[in-house]
Parts: sequence; structure tokens; C-alpha cells
Amino acid sequence: MKLYIETMGCAMNSRDSEHMVGELGKVGYTPTSEPSEADLILINTCSVREKPERKLFSEIGQFAKIKKPGAKIGVCGCTASHMGAEILKKAPSVNFVLGARNVSKISQIIKQDKAVAIDLDHDDSTYVFASQAPSSIKALLNISIGCDKHCTYCIVPHTRGKEISIPMDLLLKEADKLAQAGVKEILLLGQNVNNYGVRFSTAHPKVNFTTLLEKLSQISGLKRIRFTSPHPLHMDNVFLEHFATNPKVCKSIHIPLQSGSNAILKAMKRGYSREWYLDRITRLKTLVPEVGISTDIIVGFPGETPKDFEDTLDILEQVRFDTLYSFIYSPRPLTPSYTWENKVPKEEASAHLERLQSRHKEILEQKARAELGKTHEVLIEKIAEGVAEGRSGNGRLLSFEAGGAGVGDFVAVKVVAHHKGSLKGRIA
Ligand code: 5AD
Ligand code: SF4
Repeated sequence: MKLYIETMGCAMNSRDSEHMVGELGKVGYTPTSEPSEADLILINTCSVREKPERKLFSEIGQFAKIKKPGAKIGVCGCTASHMGAEILKKAPSVNFVLGARNVSKISQIIKQDKAVAIDLDHDDSTYVFASQAPSSIKALLNISIGCDKHCTYCIVPHTRGKEISIPMDLLLKEADKLAQAGVKEILLLGQNVNNYGVRFSTAHPKVNFTTLLEKLSQISGLKRIRFTSPHPLHMDNVFLEHFATNPKVCKSIHIPLQSGSNAILKAMKRGYSREWYLDRITRLKTLVPEVGISTDIIVGFPGETPKDFEDTLDILEQVRFDTLYSFIYSPRPLTPSYTWENKVPKEEASAHLERLQSRHKEILEQKARAELGKTHEVLIEKIAEGVAEGRSGNGRLLSFEAGGAGVGDFVAVKVVAHHKGSLKGRIA
């Protein structure tokens, strides 16, 4: 039997898709890239913004038209969690709905027509996650599920439920298994990774994120550890110092800012101020001068004034992020800000997004120029027609002639050119 799966959204969703492919593999499904050949079509959805959610129903319609007679369609993930049975009503061609917190139930749910499994209290945390045999030198590893933060714009606590950490012995076993299968780099996933260890669903020795990083770095086959996303609020000095000194922890980090204005951060319930954010960045850059920093920024949050936006631009100037993910605020049902009346006009939000992104482009050009002549240790992730591609520990993406090197090799690469912010190198 053949399985087609489409994955939207974040790395967490990608991992959930891998998990479902792994589970379904055990009951006889093999993946296909052709939906018209599939016996089962899964759409793993994201609901963090409104647009992809709107697109879902036209997509279901497309799949319903081309699918094999008798093939099933399942809607999974975050939109499944918060819309539940409404999806079955709106789209009768859908056979089942499986929420983001319930992915481990996939093998059972495919047998029940019109089933809806969206239980937010479902505990996946002690479940031994099915993994595919890793096909690459990189792998994703979930370390916690859910989120307790309740930022006033965010739907995730309603789609992924309360935050629970996955027991450390399970994680160490899984990481060891991955390393033995040839994985060199793992990306630890969670909504607030550096809050790891605050709640487990069963009795568990006291641990925190730093302990986990320390233990994982003892696995000899694993060469690199990355993680996403940490929360700025939990970036204490102990964490930053461990980040700086553990040689296996890559020196690139995502630190979601969301806004540079104290008034907006307060309205968003982020729990930190711009001063705290900048203080953490200063500390980090002092400890790790070459650190790569990425961030998320929302423009047009309800009540945002031009002055608030200037405060965000000011942080962009001070931090000079290496990667910026920026979004226009999208009102999401079930979130506190959904009903607020002080919405920012669409044109104003679009103009701000445009300004933010074009200023960031300029910064990236300057940063790329400053890279010329630098040498990075790069892990080769792929090679096509003799050209290798890989990242430095601090997150720079480089392409270069592979020579005799292969995928999974670490090579020293000198930056020799840049084009539109992307870097070309030569093996040094
Ligand atoms: N509108 C726009 N962007 C959002 N994000 C989360 N919720 C919303 C929303 N309602 C962004 C945040 C988050 C990233 C994953 O998506 O910046 O960090
Ligand atoms: Fe990921 Fe959030 Fe989208 Fe869910 S809503 S897929 S957690 S980004």
C-alpha cells in the first residue's frame, strides 16, 4: 500500500510526519511522491497563520479529484486539532481527523471511518517514537510536546496542548540509535526547548536543558547538536555559558524576538523586555563572538504604533540577525488577541513588513561581504553534479566544489564569493 504525505508548517510537523511514516511502515505502507497512486493521503497541517488554513480546503478538493477510488484522505496536525469534526462537515471527502498531539494513534485511526482524535490531554511523551531508518546524516528529535506560554497571538497551546518533556533516557536511547545509523547532526525540537525538564508525565529525576545537552554530547558518533526554539525568557547565564563551551553544540541559535517594543511585548505576554532581550544578546556575543542568530518578528500586532515598529527596527540594527523570519500578525481563533479591536490596517502592516525585510536584506549583503576570506568547518549535506552544500556550525550555508569529499564529511571551506547573500567557497 502506498502513502502520500504533505507536510506544512514547522520542524515539529516534519518530525510528526516522519513519525507517522514510520508507524504506517510497520503496517505495510510505503511512501510515494504521487498522490494519484496513493491508498492513503495525509495532509499534515499548520494553523499558526490564517492563509495556509484557508488553502487546506481547496487542497482537499484537489486530492479528492485525483485520488484512486477507495483511497482515504486524513487531515492531521494543528488545524486538525483546533477544527476537529468541523473538517469532516466542510469536506465530506475526508475520512479522518488526527490532531497534532495524537500522531502516535495513526495506525489505529486509519481503520475507523470518520474518526476524530484531537485529545489535547493525550500523552505522547513516554511513547517510543517510531523513526524511519534515517536516510540522511541529519535527524530531528522531539524533546518536549506542547506549550504553556500562552502568548496572546498564538494558537499552538490550543493545538498541541500542555507542555510535557520526553524522559531523558528515551531521548538518549533514540539519539544513540540515530548516531549508530550514521546520523552526525541532530536538531532537538520543542516549543520552548530550554524549558526542558519542568514537567514530565511520570516521576523523573530532576534535569534541565543544560543537563540534556551535556548527556547528548557524550554520544561519540554525534558530532553536532542544534535545537529550536529556545525562549528568550529562559536564557539564564548557566544556559548561555553551556551553549558557549560545549564543543558539540553548534554556535547558531534561534532567539524569537516577536517585537522590539516593550508595550507590544507586554501585550503579547512574552514575559521579557527589550532590555532583557538585548542584554542576553550582548552576553551571548561576548561569549561567542562568531555566533549566528536567527529570529521571528511579527509586525502589525494589535495596538502597534509607528513608534513601536521603530523599536523593532532598532533591535534589528543592534543585533543584525543572520536569519529573519517575519510575519504580518494574523488573528487566530481561540487566542486572546483575536477579539481585540485595535487592529493595525493591513496596508500599514504590509508597509512595515516590507521595510523590515528590505533593511534586513541590506544587512545580509553586508554580512556576506564580511565573510569573504573566512574559513568554516562545514558538514557536507548533499552533493549534486560535483557541487557540495553544507552548513558551518554557526549556520552559514556554503556551496563549493566537492572534490573527493562525500556527504557526511567535515571539511574546512574558505569563503571566496557571495551572491545575493549566499556564500560560495573552496575547500581550504
Ligand atoms: N500571526 C503571525 N505570526 C505568528 N506567529 C505565531 N502566531 C502568529 C500569528 N497569530 C509566528 C511567531 C512564531 C512563528 C512560529 O510564527 O513569530 O515565533
Ligand atoms: Fe508548528 Fe505552530 Fe504550525 Fe503547529 S501551528 S505546525 S506548532 S508552526
